[in-house]
Amino acid sequence: MAEAHTGTPEKDDEDRLTEAEIAVHWKEESFFHPTPKFIGQANLTDPAVVESFQEKHFPECFRAYADLLTWDKYWTTTLDTSNPPFWKWFVGGKLNVSYNCVDRNLAKYGNKAAIIWVSEAEDEPVVSITYQELYVRVNEMAAVLRDSCGLKTGDRVTIHMPMVPELPVTMLACARLGVIHSVVFGGFSGEACGARIVDSGSRVLITMDGYYRSGKLLDHKVNADIAVKKAESDGTKVEKVLVWKRFSGKYSSPTPMVEGRDHFVDDLLKHHRGALVPPVSMPAEAPLFLMYTSGSTGKPKGCQHSTGGYLAYVTATSKFIQDIHPTDIYWCMADIGWITGHSYIVYGPLALAATSVMYEGVPTYPDAGRVWRIAERLGVNIFHTSPTSIRMLRKLGPDEPKKYHYHFKCMTTVGEPIEPEAWLWYYNTVGRREAAITDTWWQTENGGFLCSTKPALDPMKPGSAGPPMLGIYPVIYDEHGKEIPPGAGKAGNICIRNPWPGILQTIWGDPDRFVKNYYAKYNKDKNSKDWRDWPYFAGDGAVWAGDGYIRILGRVDDVINVAGHRLGTKELESACLTVPEIAEAAVVPIVDAERGRVPEVYVSLKPGVKAGPEIAEKVTKAIETTIGKIARPKAVRIVPDMPKTRSGKIMRRVLAAISNEMDYGDITTLSNPEVVEQIRVQVQGAGPVKKKTAPEDIRRFGETT
Ligand code: WT7
Repeated sequence: MAEAHTGTPEKDDEDRLTEAEIAVHWKEESFFHPTPKFIGQANLTDPAVVESFQEKHFPECFRAYADLLTWDKYWTTTLDTSNPPFWKWFVGGKLNVSYNCVDRNLAKYGNKAAIIWVSEAEDEPVVSITYQELYVRVNEMAAVLRDSCGLKTGDRVTIHMPMVPELPVTMLACARLGVIHSVVFGGFSGEACGARIVDSGSRVLITMDGYYRSGKLLDHKVNADIAVKKAESDGTKVEKVLVWKRFSGKYSSPTPMVEGRDHFVDDLLKHHRGALVPPVSMPAEAPLFLMYTSGSTGKPKGCQHSTGGYLAYVTATSKFIQDIHPTDIYWCMADIGWITGHSYIVYGPLALAATSVMYEGVPTYPDAGRVWRIAERLGVNIFHTSPTSIRMLRKLGPDEPKKYHYHFKCMTTVGEPIEPEAWLWYYNTVGRREAAITDTWWQTENGGFLCSTKPALDPMKPGSAGPPMLGIYPVIYDEHGKEIPPGAGKAGNICIRNPWPGILQTIWGDPDRFVKNYYAKYNKDKNSKDWRDWPYFAGDGAVWAGDGYIRILGRVDDVINVAGHRLGTKELESACLTVPEIAEAAVVPIVDAERGRVPEVYVSLKPGVKAGPEIAEKVTKAIETTIGKIARPKAVRIVPDMPKTRSGKIMRRVLAAISNEMDYGDITTLSNPEVVEQIRVQVQGAGPVKKKTAPEDIRRFGETT
């Protein structure tokens, strides 16, 4: 039974463990309860709603989610399982996403802010866009895409833009036409963008000239040129590049426009002033967008999300878990270039007629009070961020929140496991012991939340995402497919037993990889048409406590979660191998106090090449160019040789142990065991072997390769 808790007073910084140490040692915490004030207004206080999602009501329970939307044509089949694991939701139904997020809000909320945008430059005025204005802008942009670019339903468009209102305008314009957007995180390099253009087969790229980051106006247009070049060298011709201007009427990039190929969006818009583009009525199962994410192999996966199922899922979870009402001022600090931004800045909140805040820049620019000033100034009452930002804000300004008069009713955390210590600061200092916290576990593939407490109904437990979401029935399996029941005190691989409306439909262009990646591991009968035989393998380790709360331990595959973002080791390694001097590369995660995990790189050199700092520098640069600054390694270690098995496989597990000062275990079966000690001394210095403990994901890293 949940035990009441009033919040622990904060300890002095001196006797605090580091975040990394806490992450290793943290224990089960006691429960915290939402305040009566919050419960009084929350969207999810009715236990009957929970009751209606019991497994015996599956899949019809999800009708309630789809009923939050406006359908042009009601569906005939709630869930079609005839071709496992390619599930189809709300089959026969038709709707348009931009209609649901914009048009339908006009009658009641036309004069209300849909988006409030905050520049990183604090002296630049805040921009509010009403639903009416959003409607006009989305229509005009849809006319640009349709009439000036010849785009039609089913075409793909790559969008590589920063956090500006023109980004959701562009996404909604695509959705209006049934054009599939693929938004690439603005911080990814031009090359990374180019690779995604090729995979999606986009012939139009939409970008912006520049944007602010840490006080500097960056040249972003240059990335479009690199992306187009990369795409072309890989066989995909980009016909048009549309360039938005960060400052109206002024081109802010030093990179020239390419005659015939590049067009300023504001020039094109002039031809479509006041245009009205009827929303295209799309089948529920038509793809809405692609979102690329990293997996164990080198190539990013284009997760394909649907129109009806996805929108229903993000709308309902925004309502029930983030507790969004139209009167709320909601701020999610994620970037729209990630799935969190798609689901919980754009689609979910706008479908609920919320006011969604967008911030362009770095949360701690120009100082650690910026976030709280924005919250105070705009009256933000729902806040959504990641453990990595919480750790950073706490480190740079532990007392800053106290200086500002904002008031949050609820707050979300997402992206990585949150240490109880960071959770408590979020709760006590940021949320002032009044805001309910939802720790939401999910993935790019999932569309929306999979585990979280139900705010108002469930107590919160620091460090645990909580019980499964409504209509989500998980199971934890060991490596052999044996179920580990709740309360067993053992970790295993978390899977979801049932389909749900937000699940990706497939990996774009690679259905076999989709089946292999997410379903093959625990499927016992390939021919079964029963969804019960197709558990979804999430790739995370987890423990299910006896009280029903699930604690996520991190990835069990070769994916490194850096500041809440996935990077594939293979992708990083192939980036290293673009440096001509490098013979072999191995990337491992190391525990980092702020960013959760960061990559550390081991390389060996080709014969005759001399080791030196310039080589390490080249490797770092190569990673930044092929992937982006987000992937910058903590260190590049040039080693005489890689530890290898007799069959020649690099033992990443051993390198991860050395980097994280863990016991590397038995190495007698390696072909070159002597190199391990050499590398250990090189990394840790002489002295006794360190035997620290490490989190589950680090301990298991490299097990499978
Ligand atoms: C991986 C997914 C969609 C959310 C943003 C990241 C980790 C995510 C939590 C959480 C513990 C979490 C998992 C997951 N993760 N949320 N609340 N607690 N771990 O999306 O890039 O697809 O990464 O992030 O390891 O598999 P993503």
